[in-house]
Amino acid sequence: MPHKKTPFIAGNWKMHMTLQETRSLLTALLAASPDLAGAEIVVLPPFTALAEAAALLLGTPIQIGAQSLFWEDKGAFTGEVSAPMLVDIGCRFVVIGHSERRQHFGETDAAVNKKILAALRNGLRPIVCVGETLAERDAGRTFERVESQVALGLSGLSPQGFREIVVAYEPIWAIGTGKTATPAQAEEVHYRIRLKLSEKYGNDLAACAIIIYGGSVKPASSYSLFKEKNIDGFLVGGASLAAEPFVQIAKEAIRAYKEEL
Ligand code: 13P
Repeated sequence: MPHKKTPFIAGNWKMHMTLQETRSLLTALLAASPDLAGAEIVVLPPFTALAEAAALLLGTPIQIGAQSLFWEDKGAFTGEVSAPMLVDIGCRFVVIGHSERRQHFGETDAAVNKKILAALRNGLRPIVCVGETLAERDAGRTFERVESQVALGLSGLSPQGFREIVVAYEPIWAIGTGKTATPAQAEEVHYRIRLKLSEKYGNDLAACAIIIYGGSVKPASSYSLFKEKNIDGFLVGGASLAAEPFVQIAKEAIRAYKEEL
């Protein structure tokens, strides 16, 4: 049985935010720090804003991560960014296997696995995304799809490596569409993910795993989603581009969490 954990709330800025926009959003988030104190908060700026964001967030409780990486540490890989480079500028997290990367850039489960191993080898915590398309859901293949992404993507991890992983369930039909999964729809998939993790890594480690939901999360849906047993937080896209909705999402999750204590 999983126990409720401190809400883990990450903002995936995707391909948004200039340096100036980064400074003003982070200034607003830092001003709201007292409201965020009951949650683990991570921002995921684009590569170009990472160094600026890291400098602004140094010594604050807001952590920082990148949206992707390449699995080699260095070499002739034009256009790519490696784990040591991300660590060098102060990243602690990295998103791996986001559906937009799988869809537009051909990222496979095998590539996801290599990227996870590269992140762990360098001390980065991977936020690994899985999720089904609408066609797969309609065909009754949601569990099969997500379980295979978990099995292939997360194979070969040591128990120490596994402890560093955050899994993000992001149904593709809910991303950027305004169609949030219902708490029951999200919970049943989170439960299956945890079950799959326990098959591979044992009950104790699986109970401690952080499994977050992403897909049109808004302040109005945060509380009821977080109330579900296996939902440990959120990967927020659109609503993380302004301080007010992002802080509100965190506050609603913290409110739900405190009721469980
Ligand atoms: P939205 O919150 O904009 O639907 O994006 C979700 C997402 O893809 C986060 O990684």
